[in-house]
Amino acid sequence: MQTFAAIDIGSNSCRLKIARVVQHRLRVVHEDREVTRLGGSVFETGLVSPESMAATLSALKRFYKAVQIHGADQVRAVATAAMRDARNGRAFLAWVRDETGWDVEIISGLEEGRLIHRGVMSNEPGTSGRCILIDVGGGSCEISLSDRKRIRETVSLPLGAVRLTEEFLKTDPPTKEEIARMKQFISRELRKAARRIHAERISLVIATSGTAAALSEASKVINRVRPTKKEYIAPSQDVRRLADKLTKMNNETRSGVAGIGPRRSEIIVAGAHVYAQLLDHFSLPGFRYSDMGLRDGILSQMLAEQ
Ligand code: G4P
Repeated sequence: MQTFAAIDIGSNSCRLKIARVVQHRLRVVHEDREVTRLGGSVFETGLVSPESMAATLSALKRFYKAVQIHGADQVRAVATAAMRDARNGRAFLAWVRDETGWDVEIISGLEEGRLIHRGVMSNEPGTSGRCILIDVGGGSCEISLSDRKRIRETVSLPLGAVRLTEEFLKTDPPTKEEIARMKQFISRELRKAARRIHAERISLVIATSGTAAALSEASKVINRVRPTKKEYIAPSQDVRRLADKLTKMNNETRSGVAGIGPRRSEIIVAGAHVYAQLLDHFSLPGFRYSDMGLRDGILSQMLAEQ
């Protein structure tokens, strides 16, 4: 029985998923995740800070132990926006190699979009029409257009929640000017995306990662929907209202909003505005959260190449 491990070194969190191949299908045997904010200083100074390097390495060492315990035959580790941008990214990954033996690949935004699409679609048996996939991560935002489960177009924009917070939102709560500047930047990037992504005849919008999870959960609370409802569509109107409401709060108050976790509250204002503007820009009615993502795309590809 083959066992695969996928590791995603993101700008906000590091994630591990280990799966066993049982009758040509993947069965997840272990998952782990740690917020290490690798992108935290990168988007401001161009360098990964010693603190986030240490936090990331400590998470990766824990992942390494799990990979050994589960006897993974193949490991693929990828890094995204923070490592793409950091001047000391390669030095950090050399350190990771010394500690774990893993050759971490720095993947492009387009490859990231492709793998997310693959991961999401591996768990969408009933989805057949045209879909938009949105992933707002820590450093970048991938938008993909999918038709009958085939990827037609992907764009990767510098609209990650950690990046935008570092770049624009210096005050807590943010000032009107900070928000206005950030919104202007988001609009400019979305106009670029609209040249490639034509959101016509869309039957479903699927969003992945922590920002989407938090907004979907907060929307469920507003509408008194049970938290376990998987097929829930978070309406654009809720996202817009949440973005406005969270903007007026300081971090402490935001972390008390139902659905928003304590670390998420630090970056949710930026993430919520990306979703609000994106849904508005493409005239989308809302999104459904999927807990699949990059790691699942890696595992699905490993299975296909077996
Ligand atoms: P990110 O770095 O790309 O922003 O995502 P991150 O890994 O932090 O988040 C993805 C996972 O964490 C998802 O769970 C999501 O449900 C959860 N999550 C993160 N932040 C929040 C939040 O503020 N509120 C809520 N409700 N959920 C959040 P998962 O991958 O399915 O794993 P698990 O942690 O649920 O087991």
